[in-house]
Amino acid sequence: MPSSSSSSDNICCGQDPATTTHLEQIREYYGHTLQSSSDLQTNACCCGVDSLPPYVRAVLPLIADEILERFYGCGSPLPPLLEGLTVLDLGCGTGRDCYLAAKLVGEHGLSIGVDMTSEQIAVARSYEAEQATRFGYSRPNTRFLQGYIEDLASLGIEDNSVDVIISNCVINLSPDKERAFAEVYRVLKPGGELYFSDIFADRRLPTCLQADPLLRGECLGGALYTEDFRRLLARVGFADFRSTANSVVSVDNPELAEKVGGIGFNSRTVRAFKLASLEDRCEDYGQVAWYLGSIPGFPHSFDLDDHHCFASNKPLLVCGNTAAMLSETRFAPHFRVEGSRAVHFGLFACGGSGSTGKASGNAGTCAGTNSDDADGGSCC
Ligand SMILES: C[S@@+](CC[C@H](N)C(=O)[O-])C[C@H]1O[C@@H](n2cnc3c(N)ncnc32)[C@H](O)[C@@H]1O
Repeated sequence: MPSSSSSSDNICCGQDPATTTHLEQIREYYGHTLQSSSDLQTNACCCGVDSLPPYVRAVLPLIADEILERFYGCGSPLPPLLEGLTVLDLGCGTGRDCYLAAKLVGEHGLSIGVDMTSEQIAVARSYEAEQATRFGYSRPNTRFLQGYIEDLASLGIEDNSVDVIISNCVINLSPDKERAFAEVYRVLKPGGELYFSDIFADRRLPTCLQADPLLRGECLGGALYTEDFRRLLARVGFADFRSTANSVVSVDNPELAEKVGGIGFNSRTVRAFKLASLEDRCEDYGQVAWYLGSIPGFPHSFDLDDHHCFASNKPLLVCGNTAAMLSETRFAPHFRVEGSRAVHFGLFACGGSGSTGKASGNAGTCAGTNSDDADGGSCC
């Protein structure tokens, strides 16, 4: 496990001046310009509590007011089944999600937050003892590390050491997203999950908008173009990913709206598993999955993603990737998956409620084998 020592300057050493300026602008924005979420100029980094699932909302009253007031996330990246796990929050800010995770992993789990901005980390650290008391723990189960999400190795975070990585509105700010995702893949345990919320764009932004300090600080300038995100994830090892939530971001500030013109922005929550068995398309092996109704808080149904709603005890035909996600991860005790990859029936007959909106006979199965699908992912 990493120590709680600081490591803030390593990534800047040897970086080109543009990267250094980029990081300094972001640090200035989150360390000084913003003092609370009411200082934000757009609604990109301000997700309301209504979108939180009940098991997360129940923990909110236990979080200190200052932490809640300095929350700048765009979604709710806290999946179920965290008890006893090690969770890593990339760009934790003052720690809202990291503390929510600290409660959800329980006293014997561990919640680690990483952020490069000293002011953010200082606030997060100042509440460690108080939050442990609020949770009824004998000691804090949190660690806040100052450093860069692109260089988790410098913080002592080892290969294959983390169960679940979360992040809320941070990757868009990274000057080297591929390096950040490569670090995610490296530190996740096999079968571990990346579950993050971020801002996505419907096209590549012109460089002048990418370089605009306010657009960048507000999480729009560095928004991930969906198709490049899919390619990038595949390059670092995540062959498939799934969307779990998606909402339109409206740019209400007239000056910024004028600058971005017709570019569409969405806040999306995405899950991706570190599984060597995933393929880049959904393939049909005739496998069937049943949800056993056993995930706490989900007795009747469970949504793996925006087009796989598993009603308890109702069999669904699934592609090979979905079968792997349900049988080779922490979800395995909660699903019965039958069939192997011994016999192949071709590309999975996708449809359902995905971005194509095409109907198929397999309610709840995969959509969008077409890589042009705006919702991205080989099965999304
Ligand atoms: C939009 S805020 C979100 C903070 C937190 N996740 C939340 O939901 O309140 C972005 C945070 O990411 C941090 N950050 C941005 N780029 C980073 C990087 N490359 N490495 C580490 N932290 C970074 C900033 O310091 C800031 O605290």
